[in-house]
Amino acid sequence: MSTATARAHPNIALVKYWGKAEEDLILPVAGSMSMTLDAFATTTTVTVRESEEATDAEDSFVLNGTPATGTALDRTTRFLDHVRELAGSSARADVVSVNEAPTAAGLASSASGFAALALAASRAYGLDLDQRSLSRLARRGSGSACRSVVDRYAVWNAGTDDATSYAEPIDAPEMRLVIVTVDGAQKQVSSREGMRRTAATSPFYDAWITSTARTLEDMVAACKAGDLTAIGEITESHALRMHAVIASALPPVRYLAPASVAAFDTAAALREQGTFAYATADAGPNVCVLTTPDAAEDVAAALTPHGQVRIVGPGPGAHLTEEAAR
Ligand code: ADP
Ligand code: DP6
Ligand code: CO
Repeated sequence: MSTATARAHPNIALVKYWGKAEEDLILPVAGSMSMTLDAFATTTTVTVRESEEATDAEDSFVLNGTPATGTALDRTTRFLDHVRELAGSSARADVVSVNEAPTAAGLASSASGFAALALAASRAYGLDLDQRSLSRLARRGSGSACRSVVDRYAVWNAGTDDATSYAEPIDAPEMRLVIVTVDGAQKQVSSREGMRRTAATSPFYDAWITSTARTLEDMVAACKAGDLTAIGEITESHALRMHAVIASALPPVRYLAPASVAAFDTAAALREQGTFAYATADAGPNVCVLTTPDAAEDVAAALTPHGQVRIVGPGPGAHLTEEAAR
């Protein structure tokens, strides 16, 4: 029996990933950029069973204290299949995972979840992957997970095949995100399904793809220049473009709630007063407002009417827990 425990944090994209060029490998239509958070971790333990005989046996997956079934179990099993292929093993595994963030609510539980699973499973199956290989592996579980392998700020190079599609660190100025939890409930349309629908039905999809590639170039340049205002402007406009292309799908998908829109308005009002605040939101109603360490308390206070607020900063990439590292 071999076991390993890993922790990973969600990441919030400042340039969003929305759409796949290749579904099985999870190659994105464009690159993206994110901050890995220092809060809301996922902790995952993988125990590989000793006996390889029972090849018909199933993996087990307990998420937040409840045995997973259906799609969630299936995604984990298919992910473990990739790990087994790399490790040359057919042994089944037992996976136990706890998300500190709400699951499937647009706070990147799939990112922290599959980054932690990639590290714990690769170790439990006897693999010792470097950061790039771990990022490539995590990508197979959920695209955004490839960025949660990296500390602080990451760029996911879209790439053209499995070997070239991975995240790597990028330097950026010290920033904070004020997370506004408007609603922790599970979303109606998963990111995976929402992306498929957008690609299949939005008349704006091609423009989204080409403009996102340019937006990422602008973001990388802004990070290199340490240009906070440009980083903020790009972040907010790119998030709104993503929600626009999503709303243009058929049947339409709308992830933002009235309170989410109100939080975007509060960010705009803060800017009017000279405070650095730019809003973004993933595929869910919860809003993240980008700000500076100095302004974070004021920004958080202004956002309290819209939901539960928490100030977070850049945090560590996926890592083994101390017990497992010993
Ligand atoms: P989110 O906005 O939270 O990332 P997604 O729709 O992208 O939502 O993904 C949610 C799915 O990710 C869940 O339904 C489940 O299949 C998977 N997931 C979430 N947390 C974990 C975890 N800790 N381990 C493995 N899979 C997870
Ligand atoms: C809006 O990585 O959750 O959060 O690859 O199908 O698992 P799958 O999707 P996922 O999509 C994330 C979408 C997003 C933007 C982002 O994180 O870049
Ligand atoms: Co996700």
